[in-house]
Formats: sequence, structure tokens, C-alpha cells
Amino acid sequence: MDKFIINGGKKISGEVNISGAKNAVLPLMTAALLVDGKTTINSVPDLRDTRTMMRLLNIIGAEASLKANSMCINASKINNLEAPYDLVKTMRASFYVLGPLLARFGEVRVSLPGGCAWGPRPVDFHLKGLEKLGAEISLESGYIMAKAKRLYGNKICFDFPSVGATGNILMASVLARGETCIENAAKEPEIVQLCHVLNNMGANIGGIGSSKIIVNGVDNLNPIDIDVIPDRIEAGTYLIAGAVMGDITLNNCNPKHLKDVLDKLKLAGANISSNENSISINKIDSISAVDVTTEVYPGFPTDLQAQWMAFMSIANGRSSIVDTVYHDRFTHIPELIRLGADIRLNGNKAEINGVEKLIGAQVMSTDIRASAALILGAIIAEGKTEISRVYHIDRGYDSIEKKFQSLGVDIVRVNE
Ligand code: EPZ
Repeated sequence: MDKFIINGGKKISGEVNISGAKNAVLPLMTAALLVDGKTTINSVPDLRDTRTMMRLLNIIGAEASLKANSMCINASKINNLEAPYDLVKTMRASFYVLGPLLARFGEVRVSLPGGCAWGPRPVDFHLKGLEKLGAEISLESGYIMAKAKRLYGNKICFDFPSVGATGNILMASVLARGETCIENAAKEPEIVQLCHVLNNMGANIGGIGSSKIIVNGVDNLNPIDIDVIPDRIEAGTYLIAGAVMGDITLNNCNPKHLKDVLDKLKLAGANISSNENSISINKIDSISAVDVTTEVYPGFPTDLQAQWMAFMSIANGRSSIVDTVYHDRFTHIPELIRLGADIRLNGNKAEINGVEKLIGAQVMSTDIRASAALILGAIIAEGKTEISRVYHIDRGYDSIEKKFQSLGVDIVRVNE
């Protein structure tokens, strides 16, 4: 298993290219299952999760291959309508095969994802939505069995604007008979891209980017070429690194997708300039404490909550962070405390008292974003930090140590 060794406390500077978005490419890869032919996806980030999804597609019989950052998916010979537990347990996004396979083939067997490091993450919205479209859903030995000769449009209203459920129901309803109305739908940029891609394939989706999406089913879809949008969460992670340790420019990113994050960074004292696809940020000499409450898009993303906490750990004064999307997403706190941070947790609210400095230590990754926060903590901290279990970070960040090395961070990957 790999670990990172970081000697922190050093100023950083330079430019970094942002990769394609993990949370956009994963549903796009499953959308390719809807077409009888070859789909090409460009700007694919090289991540453990994209490789896991590729393995799943190959198991299903969709020939998927990745060359440089371009993926080809040929879904004309699908012969196995099952997503096995061994894969689904390593990546919840595997559950995205449910909608497209059910819509195209009328039956599918997908392992239930189970929980994750910060608690249960149910999929009831996905299942209730598919039942509304006429699917028969049953649970057999930990697997969801879904059947429907043909899906029929219906009105679906989510209790919470779930990204995953919106994606699955979208991919199911594009081939359903009649009209589907999805209310309280997710508005994340990754869902907006999925809608545009499905329409380019020949679907008929309206209300894109709003909380009420209307889908009129079609009989079939056509293969297309796709370019994945930039990863706003990766961009947010590097912006925070710049705010604490140096002057950096991010290329190939979309400032519009980061409005709330940029506003909060400015409140903390950051000097930021941007244009259509790049953002520059300078090191903040005296960081102001800024409260954050995570929300669904366009609010502050929960996937940047841990990184913001590492940032606030050296701010002047006290700040609070409330996570309204995942109430238990705080496994990074004990590890940040090991670096010398002063953080108290009460329910889904963390109080951070800014300290003078952090000091290097041995810490452990627990999930993708928690490990990104530990890397930021280590870059800030004086002395040496060792971060174990970095396979978590490889799931969601493309070549992170190379990108940070190019900014002057003293980081190496060591095989334990
Ligand atoms: C997506 O997860 C992202 N993953 C997550 O990013 C992200 O944190 C999350 O959206 C929120 O923005 C991918 O896109 C692959 P949800 P998803 O369904 O779709 C509850 C990362 O680090 N809920 O929007 O699983 C759920 O428990 C990952 O890149 C139900 O109760 O999130 C949560 O509290 C981590 N029942 C809330 O809704 C359901 O059926 C939001 O979940 C579905 C969700």
C-alpha cells in the first residue's frame, strides 16, 4: 500500500491543469450503455474510480478501453446484466448502471452499494423512482433485481435533490414511453452535462439545470463523442492550497461552477482573478475565519467541506462548518487534530478555533476528500507528515502528487 510523505511549510507557486470531472465521467460512462454502438469520451481523468467503472462495463460486455485520456465504449455486445458485489462495494457509482440497463434491456441485477466511511448512504430514491416508471423491484441476497418490459413516464418528486437518483432516473426515463417529470431534481453541473449529452444522443429533455426536469421518452439513442467538464472539486482543492501557501493559476477549470467557493475564499481574504477557463489566487497573509454550511448546488459543496476545515484550522479566530448533505462526514477531524488543529464536533456542526501553526505527524486517509484535506494540512504543517492509505485519494484525484510537485510541494509517494 502506498503512503505520501510531505515536508510542509514551504511556499508554492505555478500553474496546474484541472482534469475532467470524476462525478461527471462516471454517469457518462454508464449513459453509453443506452446506445447500441461506440461512444467516445474525451478528457477522462485517470482515476481508480474510472478504472473500476471500466472493469464493470467490461464485465457487463461493453468493451471499454482508455488511451491517454480518451475512452471508447462499445455497448453493442452486452451479454451480462449484473453488477457484482465485489465491484459495487468499492464504488457506489456502480449503481448508475441500474437505470440504463433496465431501460434498454428490461431487466438487471445490481448489488446494493451498502454504507461508506461516514455512514449509511441509502438508494431508496433511486428504487422508488424506478418503481414509479413501472419497474418491479425486489431484493435478493443483497442484490436489487429490477424488471420492466417497458418503462412508462410518470411524475417523480424526490424528498432530497439527490445527484445519483436524478442521474439514474434520467437515464431510465429517456427510453421510457411518454413523459417523465422529475421534481426536486439535482442541479449539479455534472447532472447538467449528463442531460446535454443525452440530448445530443437523441433524447428529449427539458428544464435542464432547474429543479424540474421534463423527459419525453424516445425509442432509441445514438452514439456520440463527449468532452467531460472540468472537475470543480479538484479545482477547489488546489484553490485552497493556493490561498494558504502560494500564488497559483488553475487552467482548464470553470469559475462559474465554483461561485460560492470563490465568494467564501474572497471573504477569507483571497485575492482572485479569473477568466472563462482559468483562475488565479494569491497566498493570504492573514486568513479570516469564515463559516460554511454545505448545500446542494449551487451552494457550498460537501465535497470541499473537509478541505475547507483544513484551511480554517489556521485562520484567525473561530469558524463553524455545518454539513447539511452528509451529517456524519467528519472522519477527517481526528486526523487534523493529530496535526495540531483545534476542532470540536457537535452533531453535524464543527467548531474550528484557528491555531498559529500545524505540525507534521502520521495520519490516515479515510475517504477521497478527507485525504485531500490531510494533504492540505500536511502542506501547511511544519515538518514531516506521513499519510497512509492513499488509495482513497487515487480514487478521485488524477496524478495529485505530480501536480503538487509541479507547484513546488515536497511530496513523495512511497510503497509501504
Ligand atoms: C454524489 O453522490 C457524489 N458522487 C458525491 O461525491 C457527493 O458528495 C454527492 O453527490 C453530493 O453532492 C458521485 O457523483 C459519484 P446524493 P450521491 O444521492 O449521488 C441521501 C466524492 O467525494 N440519499 O446526492 O451518492 C444521501 O444519503 C463523492 O466525489 C438518500 O437518502 O449523493 C445524502 O444524504 C462523495 N436516498 C443525500 O441524499 C437516496 O436514494 C445526497 O446524496 C439517495 C440519496
